[in-house]
Amino acid sequence: MDKKNIDWENLGFGYIPTDKRYVANFKDGKWDEGALIDDPNIVMNECAGVLQYAQTIFEGLKAYTTEDGHIVTFRPDLNGQRMEDSARRLEMPVFPADRFVEAVEQTVRANAAYVPPFGSGATLYVRPYMFGINPVIGVKPADEYQFRVFTTPVGPYFKGGVKPLTLCVSDFDRAAPNGTGHIKAGLNYAMSLHAIVTAHANGYDENMYLDSATRTKVEETGGANFIFVTKDQKVVTPHSNTILPSITRRSLLYVAEHYLGLEVEERDVYLDEVKDFAECGLCGTAAVISPVGKIVDHGKEICLPSGMEKMGPTIQKLYDTLTGIQMGRIEAPKGWIKVIV
Ligand code: PLP
Ligand code: COI
Repeated sequence: MDKKNIDWENLGFGYIPTDKRYVANFKDGKWDEGALIDDPNIVMNECAGVLQYAQTIFEGLKAYTTEDGHIVTFRPDLNGQRMEDSARRLEMPVFPADRFVEAVEQTVRANAAYVPPFGSGATLYVRPYMFGINPVIGVKPADEYQFRVFTTPVGPYFKGGVKPLTLCVSDFDRAAPNGTGHIKAGLNYAMSLHAIVTAHANGYDENMYLDSATRTKVEETGGANFIFVTKDQKVVTPHSNTILPSITRRSLLYVAEHYLGLEVEERDVYLDEVKDFAECGLCGTAAVISPVGKIVDHGKEICLPSGMEKMGPTIQKLYDTLTGIQMGRIEAPKGWIKVIV
């Protein structure tokens, strides 16, 4: 199979349409069998549930070319399970996780020419999503839904690749106790747009959101979880019911413990103690692990000892091991890698 003529090394995180996308429709209480189609556009009624009341959820995962030339995805079953959780919370029908994995596999296979080559630094981003499509005017769940999967080749999420980021402690809240912070609902991202535009206008790369109940604990950013490293090399990550349960973070904790022999801790992390950590990173599918060099809390600078030039040593080891597993250079734990081609 010939690869598309794309400048893989210089891709940013943007949308490039690929040849095929997967569509399944939910109507009369059941999902149809789904199919791959060509048209990237969607026609829907002006009163569709998604347009009026934002009934939409999504997932994000990547397909990689391994060193020995296979195309693989990383733990797609966990994305499928998380999408089931998101659907339940927004009163949407569940698209079963096994069908989700199958749909991802079909879409990636159909767009194999767009999976960036090994060593290019780029990957094929896979975006499954689901939304209410029939007219809804009273506030209630839609009756009809569409589940889709498209793919797009991407480079690093943050411009500058692995240069450490500067964050600011946000005055905006991302999630409320008993709200929707733990699921991947489009509404969580819509309400973060003003906060991220404000952060960028003030010269910051991202926001650090605090827990909205007490504003003392570290939650996450708009699109990634936090991972910290203590001066004695313990890997610490915030425990919270109002952050997205990142698959990357869960994988990194396993890698830290079982591949690198490090102690790991998932617990409340207070803003006050961030100054005592040695390293900090943002982890997620898009972010992979992006190092943080500085966090600004209302004019007060917290400078991580790992500095603004490069990743700290432990974050670097985590990064190398995780990406090594994803690209087939390091043996993966059983079930983590799904070979597609
Ligand atoms: N937190 C938020 C708000 C996200 O949007 C994402 C991205 O999916 C993550 C964390 C990281 O999750 P994952 O590692 O499953 O991609
Ligand atoms: C992902 O990492 O897949 C996400 O959905 C984050 C988003 C901000 C791109």
